[in-house]
Amino acid sequence: MKSFITLAALFGILSFTSASAIAEEPTSTLVAAPEEARSINSAAAPIISVLVGPNQQLIFDPPYINHVGQGQRIHFDFRAINHTFTESSFEKPCTKIPGAQFDTNFGNFNPDDIPNFKPFDITLESDKPRFFYCKQANRTPNSHCGKGMVFAINVDAWTFEQFQRNAAVDGLPKIKGRAPVVEEDEE
Ligand SMILES: *[C@@H]1O[C@H](CO)[C@@H](O)[C@H](O)[C@H]1NC(C)=O
Repeated sequence: MKSFITLAALFGILSFTSASAIAEEPTSTLVAAPEEARSINSAAAPIISVLVGPNQQLIFDPPYINHVGQGQRIHFDFRAINHTFTESSFEKPCTKIPGAQFDTNFGNFNPDDIPNFKPFDITLESDKPRFFYCKQANRTPNSHCGKGMVFAINVDAWTFEQFQRNAAVDGLPKIKGRAPVVEEDEE
């Protein structure tokens, strides 16, 4: 917390400095300068980086982010195992939503685990909650999603935990009677 405050203070100083620098530059349109400074600052909002499957683990790291808004860029660095980044819902974490805006499919496989070999970037269009999963081996005992490989945007810790619990139900094979029923992954 202390270091966050320090960092926030530093950013405050930096943006103040750059805004002043821009405002003090000789320019023929003095009135427009502060507006310009503001848009430069918002475009420079730090990109959030998320690791997809670091160290052969079935996780997104961090697993969720909160308080991010329109225009926020998020960078997904796919690692080692063959994963996807696919949009779902809170209720059915391992089921692709109809008309999903994001689904990488299996095109980002990075078997040699080279940092940023095949990354995937998104830019948020709103501050609404969004839910995602890895669809590898879905509805089998090895379902990445069923084992908790889910990611959420604009949720708190409690909501994320519920979402991950829902994933264990949705991603692993459904048990009917004695035999597991393996369902087709929806496309
Ligand atoms: C990645 O996984 C998918 C689904 O299991 C599979 O169809 C595909 O062949 C895999 N890609 C590679 C390059 O192994």
